[in-house]
Amino acid sequence: MAVYQIVELGDQILREKAKPVPKVTDNIRKLLNNLADTLREANGVGLAAPQIGVSKRVVVVDVGEGLIELVNPEISERQGEDTDSEGCLSIPGVYGEVSRAARVVVKALDRNGEVIKVEGTGLLARALQHEIDHLDGILFVDKATKLERK
Ligand code: NI
Repeated sequence: MAVYQIVELGDQILREKAKPVPKVTDNIRKLLNNLADTLREANGVGLAAPQIGVSKRVVVVDVGEGLIELVNPEISERQGEDTDSEGCLSIPGVYGEVSRAARVVVKALDRNGEVIKVEGTGLLARALQHEIDHLDGILFVDKATKLERK
């Protein structure tokens, strides 16, 4: 169990474009474990590696349907539009309405380096898009309307 401190808004790493993973090694599997541990401890639905200080294209998502681990994720299909409230573990207490695709298909590598496709609608689609944005240095507050502090 390795729970990391989550990097907060203002840290430059959150604005960097994260580096692609050339090969899924034991170090990447350890990073996936650390992300999952940190996500659970924080009670979040998704976490991207830059949020624990690692500028690599690795994310985990868990919207209550089991943990999804993604290395080098890319959105390969988008459909529809959906606007809903969103927050971020790196911007605690702040929420806003963000418009996202209603359905996405994400292509990525799993922890064994195998190509996988994950299809998501609803909260899963939202979480996938939010976490992949983190890998490009994009934060939900860049896209949100009606931002408020709770
Ligand atoms: Ni976030």
